Amino acid sequence: MAQDHAKLYPASDDFIKNAHIDRAKYDEMYAQSVSDPEGFWGEQGKRLDWITPYSTVKNTSFDFGKVDIKWFEDGVLNVAYNCVDRHLATRGDQTAIIFEPDDPAAEAQHITYNMLSEKVNRFANVLLSQGVMRGDRVVIYLPMIPEAAYAMLACARIGAIHSIVFAGFSPDALANRINDCGAKVVITADSAPRGGRKTALKSNADAALLHCSDRVRCLVVKHTGDQITWIEGRDVDVKAQMQQASPDCPVRPMGAEDPLFILYTSGSTGKPKGVVHTSGGYLLYASITHEYVFDYHEGDVFWCSADVGWVTGHSYIVYGPLANGATTLMFEGVPSYPDAGRFWAVCEKHKVNQFYTAPTALRSLMGQGNSWVEKYDLSSIKLLGTVGEPINPEAWNWYNDIVGKGRAPIVDTWWQTETGGHLLTPLPGAVPTKPGSATLPFFGVQPVVLEPTTGEELKATATEGVLCLKDSWPGQMRTVWGDHERFQETYFQQYKGYYFSGDGCRRDEDGYYWITGRVDDVINVSGHRMGTAEVESALVAHPKVAEAAVVGFPHEVKGQGIYAYVTLMNGQEPSDALRAELEKWVRAEIGPIAKPDFIQWAPGLPKTRSGKIMRRILRKIAENDTGAMGDISTLADPSVVEELIANSIWKL
Ligand code: WTA
Repeated sequence: MAQDHAKLYPASDDFIKNAHIDRAKYDEMYAQSVSDPEGFWGEQGKRLDWITPYSTVKNTSFDFGKVDIKWFEDGVLNVAYNCVDRHLATRGDQTAIIFEPDDPAAEAQHITYNMLSEKVNRFANVLLSQGVMRGDRVVIYLPMIPEAAYAMLACARIGAIHSIVFAGFSPDALANRINDCGAKVVITADSAPRGGRKTALKSNADAALLHCSDRVRCLVVKHTGDQITWIEGRDVDVKAQMQQASPDCPVRPMGAEDPLFILYTSGSTGKPKGVVHTSGGYLLYASITHEYVFDYHEGDVFWCSADVGWVTGHSYIVYGPLANGATTLMFEGVPSYPDAGRFWAVCEKHKVNQFYTAPTALRSLMGQGNSWVEKYDLSSIKLLGTVGEPINPEAWNWYNDIVGKGRAPIVDTWWQTETGGHLLTPLPGAVPTKPGSATLPFFGVQPVVLEPTTGEELKATATEGVLCLKDSWPGQMRTVWGDHERFQETYFQQYKGYYFSGDGCRRDEDGYYWITGRVDDVINVSGHRMGTAEVESALVAHPKVAEAAVVGFPHEVKGQGIYAYVTLMNGQEPSDALRAELEKWVRAEIGPIAKPDFIQWAPGLPKTRSGKIMRRILRKIAENDTGAMGDISTLADPSVVEELIANSIWKL
């Protein structure tokens, strides 16, 4: 495998000739970006339109106890202005958003910048009419429809802070987020069609709102026309209100460090945390990475297949592309509906130039055979991208050979909700790729590899350890909503002076980075981030469950699957019916993405004498790597290990 990895894939000469950044330019710009971040970012900041230009660029500290991150702090701007208004004079009639509905027979929409402007202004006025003010929180729980982008930009226009909750989350998960951020309104739709099926979003929101303050308003986008319950005085028909609202809403000047959005993400402990991104640095970083990493050129059609409920959708469906005046495609559906050719049908139909997706989608499509791809004319594709998890060489080769026909460079982008945009990624005209490697740092990004236990920086080029960042970049999260302590403890405590990513990595002799996966209790299921602690607390909330331990295990399509060890209450008998009941329970508590792939009944869990569950052992059993269990002599009862091995998924 190491041999295979050594093969370099440079972009074609033609691609390099037309690329924004070639190798010489990358080297020069990178060197400046780390030796003189103020100068570099001060210059790049001009990509945005400022109401009041900044006089300071960077004011950041990673010192534990006083972590503080500010970029362009005295600059004043408006994010919606940058994504919409400033384009109107030059590209008002250009398509901003192509909307491709779930149903392939339904007509796609081409929303120009002029149309987008009108919608965003009207939506912003609707929010104002509901009493939403600068700094107020607005939860968005919508399908992948243009209204999601209108809602985001409408918030930005008036200085409200949005927090999108993925439409696959359950009412409980939605309620927790509404309450944590103290949202004034939640924006939802009647229902969300996906893959020919519908999720009843409004009724989920109704259920969630039972657990929230009765002052929370519910703005409803009537998308499918499905019948819904309506609570007079609380529920607002967004489309009807938009029609009446004025198409002019002045932009609110915002400080660069005013929050733009909160996005909840899973960590290794406790409940999901509200990652806070601010206006100036985030938008700049989304914009510059979108242009350079995808080598986006004027007139290109860019498609990121993520959901706006995740950070990838925030940065690369909405903010990055629109800040750049791009045409961005928004797809409501799933890759497998109506058949395994849908992605490629959409690429052909809209002449997509850059396509960005997750390895898990590629693995599932790869299994359906090449004919689904070969049916379509994919000659418009210039570049392919992946995100969310390591890509295995088989999927990489398939993407490269079958989808890209060997002509399209693949950018494997490593980043996180916390980072706002890409940190490790090839710039396609500059850096030859290696299948499975996120290659080199983006401008201003200083990765370091630390020895996991001592925290010592490993200086050798070829090395392996935990991945940290030495200094700030403009897109970095600023805090955890309402809990700056937690922000510091999560990212800056373990390795002093660094931002700790939670990922392990290897650096090869060429200085290329290979992400080896999370080193904490976060797992990555189909590119969705999941805290094992969250699934555990959902399981133990069930009256028949005494204890639960959740770990990841290798899964052919999802990358990692969810493996749950469950100890039942005394007197409860394991059964298939109970297993199904627990699966359903977790779906209801968190959402379908958290459903365990395998539940193993565990009469006992391996614990230290002080009662701590030894997850290392549980991970090994779930990975079928029981040859090297390490020292189990400290266990209170070593015999439980034998019992668990004998009944693991591998012994079925
Ligand atoms: C993983 C998604 C390998 C990683 C943008 C990270 C990756 C977590 C890659 C963040 C990649 C993301 N190669 N692993 N190219 N991209 N990851 O917050 O473990 O949903 O820490 O952000 O996904 O997931 P999140």
